[in-house]
This record gives sequence, structure tokens and C-alpha cells, in this order.
Amino acid sequence: MAKNDDSNGKIRLGAGPGPAHALASYQRPEQPVALVIFGGAGDLTWRKVMPALYDLYKHACLPETFAITIMDVAGLHEKELINHFHEGVKQFSQHEATTKDWREFSGHISYFKADFTDRAVYTQLSDRLAALEKKWGANLVSIFYLATPPRFFGTIADMLGDTGLARKRRQARILLEKPIGHDLKSMQKINRAVSARFHESQIFRIDHYLGKETVRNILAFRFANLLFEPIWDRRYVDYVTITVAEQVGVENRGGYYEGAGALRDMVQNHLLQLLCLIAMEPPVSFEADEVRNKKVDVLHAVREIPGDAVSSVAVRGQYGPGVIGGKKVPGYRQEPGVAATSSTETYAALKLFVDNWRWQDVPFYLRTGKRLAEHSSEIVIHFRPVPHQSFPLEAIVSWMPVSLSLCIQPREGIVLRFQAKKPGAEVILEPVEMNFSYRQAFGTILPEAYNTLLWDLMIGDATIFMRTDQVEAAWSVLAPVLDYWQSEPPDDFPNYAAGSWGPQDAASLLARQGCAWPFPSSLPPAHPAMMV
Ligand code: BG6
Repeated sequence: MAKNDDSNGKIRLGAGPGPAHALASYQRPEQPVALVIFGGAGDLTWRKVMPALYDLYKHACLPETFAITIMDVAGLHEKELINHFHEGVKQFSQHEATTKDWREFSGHISYFKADFTDRAVYTQLSDRLAALEKKWGANLVSIFYLATPPRFFGTIADMLGDTGLARKRRQARILLEKPIGHDLKSMQKINRAVSARFHESQIFRIDHYLGKETVRNILAFRFANLLFEPIWDRRYVDYVTITVAEQVGVENRGGYYEGAGALRDMVQNHLLQLLCLIAMEPPVSFEADEVRNKKVDVLHAVREIPGDAVSSVAVRGQYGPGVIGGKKVPGYRQEPGVAATSSTETYAALKLFVDNWRWQDVPFYLRTGKRLAEHSSEIVIHFRPVPHQSFPLEAIVSWMPVSLSLCIQPREGIVLRFQAKKPGAEVILEPVEMNFSYRQAFGTILPEAYNTLLWDLMIGDATIFMRTDQVEAAWSVLAPVLDYWQSEPPDDFPNYAAGSWGPQDAASLLARQGCAWPFPSSLPPAHPAMMV
């Protein structure tokens, strides 16, 4: 297969020889699948789900027999919708969508205009699925993918239950997209409604960060190598930084983002999941529940933030106009769908502690923001300084503590920074780096997170999906911050320029303890175009 870059920074595979793709190692699921996407005419299906399904299809990783039903209230013509998906696949899939291939693939898609609150819709759906089962002559796995606003989750689960569509425990699965609720209370309400109809083993809650290869590698790196685990604790680690920095703004999602903000959109799920993977204890096995038990332990151990201490451990920000990649970009308040006086945060930074034997008093600093200086997601373990400096002062002018960067994206790899003697007569120490890059080490193209997640969903493996207690614990960690921020509207928004590294207060949050946010590592990007 030939490989090209396109203007989106996507890898595009066409015909002809090219690098191997990791999807080549995925098996075809055996059972036929009927995937029903509620709210499927939206941006998520267009941008993520359909391109990922097409990639799986191209690698023969979808079952021989499958059907994709798009359910949406929008009054659309099936043909128009399919053309619209084709455009999305052209832009976002890793594979070229030639007319012939697209025709074959899209023959599996059908559209069903539906009001999710109308009972009759579910009877029709049930008839459709029964007809498919009859036609295919096999038991099918039905997957109900809820890509709707969370307020519909309870109703849809209820109606699916009433129609008997949730009954077959091994064959019916429900997938909930984040955000699951708006806060702890609303999450619990959704949970009660969904679990009244579906058993926990049938419920798959997506956090797409968990599907990224570089995120999945965290456990491999920690628990398949003896080297770092003995120093992975309070005796050797000074502090940990977790950064998920985006250059994009809110794009066309102003309406959704206004009600969410960075804390709900990114911290509650992606950043807290990264924290769990870094801080968790070794699992006894890689059984889904065992891994999830160890992860939820971390969230339960996060020190509660007292309501009156929020301002000393949490920083929020909103971008104003600025320059990104040499181009002027508007401020958040000027984006479509955003109120001119909006107090929604587009940046959040937090200082957390994990109260247990391993991590007592080691600060974990989390930050995320839109329209920041660079697109970069990296976790850095900052090790303590040496207890005694034997080298003369002139030798250690550029000395820096050891750090280990786990680079999630767009650089994909691991960087260990340590000191080396600079060649020459005198002893002068300088920080140097040892790099592992996926690109160089494996030479394969990594799957997109949604490739992995959708495939795991089809084969029924829940390891990288969130369990209800994890989601609940994550909301509990953030509840005091959400409450405080809501009761005390910010008076300094916008407080960072687009293209900067965020509000000054976020730097001060670390500087008070003599710590600093790291700059993105020097690892070459997985793909040059992905740096955009
Ligand atoms: C989504 C958020 O969950 O993650 C978006 O809703 C964000 O606001 C996106 O842009 C980031 O994902 P990724 O994979 O591009 O880092």
C-alpha cells in the first residue's frame, strides 16, 4: 500500500506497497454484527466512527456479515447521508475511499429517521433486527451505540429494555459515548436507568484515549519491564505532569462545549484515565475487571479537594484571539455558538495527590487546553534530584533531574532524559536523551483509537472501556472544582491568548513548589504532517 500525507495530517493508504498497518494483526470477529448508531447523523459518526469502521473493513476486521443502521431525528435522505459519510471517510480514514470500495462498504449502511422518545421506533428496530437475523440465519450481536446527548441515554436504554432488545446478555451491548452526565448526580441517574435494563457486562463506556496505542503501552511499559517499577514511587518521583494540549479551538462544537468546558470535556475522562494508568498498582492479570479494579483504586485514593481550597489547586482559563501557525484566530467568545460573555473554561489545570503508600505527597499536575502553542499530549515523570551532588559546581551548570516522557501524540514514543559527561578534558555534565519511537522501532502504522475500540466492542472485550464505578469516582474527584467554579464566575476571561501555553496562574501552580510544566519532548513526530 502506498502512503501519503494529506493536509489533515492523516496518513492515507492507497494501493501498492507501503508500511505495514497494525490492524493487519486483528482477526475478523466471528459473529455477525448489527451496529445501531443513535444520533448517528452527527459529527462524531462522520469524523470518527465511520472512518474507523471503513479502516476496519479495509483490513477485513469487520465480521463477514454486518449492518450499520443510523438512527437520527434529522430528516435526511439515505443517499445524501451516505455521500456525507463518504466525504468524512475521505478526510479522516487512513485509507483511500475509492468509489468502488465505498460502494461496497456503504451497501451495509441504512438510515432510519427516528424520534428516540417514540416507542413505535423501537418496535420497528426490533423487527429490523429480527429480519436481519432471519436473513443471515445466525444469532447476531446487536450493538446500540448512543452517540446522542447524555439526556437521551436513560430513555433509549429504557425503551430498548421494554422492547426486549437488551435481554440477550451475550448478544446485546450498549455503548455510551462521553460525557456520561454533566456531574455526579446526573451520571448516577443515567447509570440507574441504563443498569436497570442492561447488565454491567453489556455496557461499554467509551473514553477514546484508552484506545490509543501509546496509552495502551503505558501498562506494557510499566509491568513488562522490571527496570522502572522499583523506582515508580514517592521515594524516587518528585512530581508527575500530564499534559493534553490542543491547537484546535472548539471548531463547530460551540453549542456542546458551552455546557461542558475543559474540565468536563477532557479532565473528567481522558486526563483522569491517564492518571490511573500511571498511578495504579500492578494488576494480577489483564482480565478486564482486574485492570479496572486497580484503576478505580487510584481515583478512590485521590485526596479530596476542600471547597475552600479549590483556587489554590485548580486554574481555569479561556482563550482570547491570537496567532496559531502564523494565522490569526478568534477568541473563544467569538466562536460560533458561544456566548459573547461566556465564562466556560477552555483550559484547566489541577494539582492532585494520590493518598496511598506509593504516592503519598507526590503532586500530580494535570493540564489541558484548546488553542495552545502546540498540539502535544505527554506524561512526564520527573525524578528527584540526586541526594548529594559530588560533581563540582562548574560541572553541573546545565544539570537537570532525570525525567521520563511518555509521548502519547502527535509524537509517539518514550524519551528518557539523563546526564552524560560532555566529551572533553573537563568534567562537564549535560542532559541527553534516549528515545524510543514507534515509527523507528516497529515501522508500522498505528491504528486510530476508534479502530481499536470498535473492534474490542465487537469481540466483547471491555478491558479498555470504563466501568460505572470509575466514571462515578472521576466525577466525585472533580465535584468540588465544578461546584466552586460554577458558584464563582471568573472575572478575568479571556486570560490567555490563542497560541500561548495558557494562563500565567497555571505556571504559578507549579512554580510555588519549584516545579515547572515541561516543554514537549524532542522526539520526532510520528508523522510530520501530524504536528499541525
Ligand atoms: C474529545 C473532546 O473527547 O477529545 C474534544 O470532546 C477533544 O474536545 C478531543 O478535541 C481530543 O481528542 P484527540 O484524540 O484528538 O486528542
